[in-house]
Amino acid sequence: MVGNQKMKNRLVILITVIFVFTGTFSLKTFAQQSTEKKWWKEAVVYQIYPRSFKDTDGDGVGDLKGIISKLDYIKSLGVNVVWINPIYSSPNDDNGYDISDYRNIMKDFGTMEDFDSLLKGLHGRGIKLVMDVVVNHSSDEHDWFKQSRSSRSNPYRNYYHWWNAERGKPAPRYSLFDVNHDAWKYDTLTNAYYLHYFSRKQPDLNWENPALRQEVYNIMKFWADKGIDGFRLDAFQFASKDISFPVFPEGYEKNFIKYYAMGPYLHDYLKEMNREVFSKYDVMSVAEGAGNSFEDAHNLVDPDRNELNMAYAFEGVDIANPDGYSLLHFKEVFSRWDSAFASKGWLSIFLANHDQARMVSRFGNDTPAFRDVSSKMLSTFIMTMRGTPYAYNGDELGMTNAGFDKMEDYRDMPTLNEYQHQKNIGGDIQKFMQHIKFECRDNGRTPFQWDNTINAGFTNSTPWIKVNPNHETINAAAQENDPFSCLNYFRSLTKLRNSIPALVYGKYTLLDKSNLNVYAYTRESEGQKMLILLNFSSSNAQADIQLTTNAKVLLSNYKDAPLANKGKSIITLRPYEAIIYRL
Ligand code: NOJ
Repeated sequence: MVGNQKMKNRLVILITVIFVFTGTFSLKTFAQQSTEKKWWKEAVVYQIYPRSFKDTDGDGVGDLKGIISKLDYIKSLGVNVVWINPIYSSPNDDNGYDISDYRNIMKDFGTMEDFDSLLKGLHGRGIKLVMDVVVNHSSDEHDWFKQSRSSRSNPYRNYYHWWNAERGKPAPRYSLFDVNHDAWKYDTLTNAYYLHYFSRKQPDLNWENPALRQEVYNIMKFWADKGIDGFRLDAFQFASKDISFPVFPEGYEKNFIKYYAMGPYLHDYLKEMNREVFSKYDVMSVAEGAGNSFEDAHNLVDPDRNELNMAYAFEGVDIANPDGYSLLHFKEVFSRWDSAFASKGWLSIFLANHDQARMVSRFGNDTPAFRDVSSKMLSTFIMTMRGTPYAYNGDELGMTNAGFDKMEDYRDMPTLNEYQHQKNIGGDIQKFMQHIKFECRDNGRTPFQWDNTINAGFTNSTPWIKVNPNHETINAAAQENDPFSCLNYFRSLTKLRNSIPALVYGKYTLLDKSNLNVYAYTRESEGQKMLILLNFSSSNAQADIQLTTNAKVLLSNYKDAPLANKGKSIITLRPYEAIIYRL
């Protein structure tokens, strides 16, 4: 009997342990689910390229006062986070992605007082601010580099990667921006090479040095103490390097991300950054790039690892090419990413940024007949997918590629260097020109089109880069009072996104998977179900959807939308038609 009782007791203990363990486990899992509410999941991010937004001091370059003068416009878009590209002191080799003083404002953009007013103005309107942290590299004009370069024994020497020339030439490293594609620059001063994955004026910082890391965390705290609400880590997946600089296999540069990204200590550095900075503030964190695999992407953003909040992956935006792209491929990529993050982690959803040509020119149709409707359709996609949507400034108007024909109109440093490179190697210049006309990031950097005046209301002097001539018809002023404009459609979209939790947290289900022209999916949570139909083609197309209930149109990019009643299975969509139904 006694033995039996003991057995029973043991069993009870065992069951309790199992219960407690699995109970805690499931509670913990629940806490990590992607449905867990966070402000940065509910955000709609509006990315501002400050150089091209609005110039107020007549130097042809946008400035902080310019952004301040447009705060009401920004608010009217219904966005609640602004991500602004780098505004720190910089000699502007790479438009601010080469920072010479991380605690100061670039002269072209204004002063720290302007920054403080901007932040106050945004916060006063309920909008948060995310800033770039560019710390894979600094400018060669940063004091750290000047010191580092000055002698081998300087205390800042180890802030950068140096290879003493008496060791021979270092193993080749591909540079994304260098005219010779060589990421090692020989410096006579100390008879050594320094590493620069980007331009020669962007030497890579040595993250293996704890002193450098501490400096960076202090800089981040400086901005967080000022009250900013988030950080976007530029090129950070490249920060950790194997500093023995092993030889990479022949042809590695064709897949350099595989060799450059996710270096040996990257996760340790992110954990440290999280401990030192992120965990101390209510800030969002996102890094450019998401490694080489879902595993990498998850490891960057899984909440229980305490690294970053959301992944920013490029597989989707990389699909576009001048010969067009397949919608099946597009759907496959976005669906695959969604399912990989369905229960854990969080994604950014975007089709453009300052490094891409214009969204409508790459993924839609920028001809006069379809520009407006296809821009609206693409914005509908961004605002209805699971993940935090990022809208790039100007896309709310349907701004298009400028498609410059003459080299002299281009401003982008890597493009100018590559042109020179092609000339040096006797490359096909005509092919190169065709390529940049479609792909060059200057296409996404032409001045914001405020009105139809000579410089699109961007500046009253000569703009740093040419204004797109189509500003005469495509501009904010013209769209402001047109209830059917791209701009007003964008506002309706953000309103829906901000008011329907299913569009933020809801489960995504792809429908009519093999449809070549229509992207159809539902978003569903807490008793709400939305059906989204997007025709990605310039012809009528049919969606094959079995409706078990009458669907109510919430928004569509044509003045009327086809009814979708119970029992109906085929819905015909007009060119680039986009409809959001409530089921
Ligand atoms: C990525 C940034 O988005 C891009 O604009 C920049 O040129 C490189 N990183 C180098 O900082």
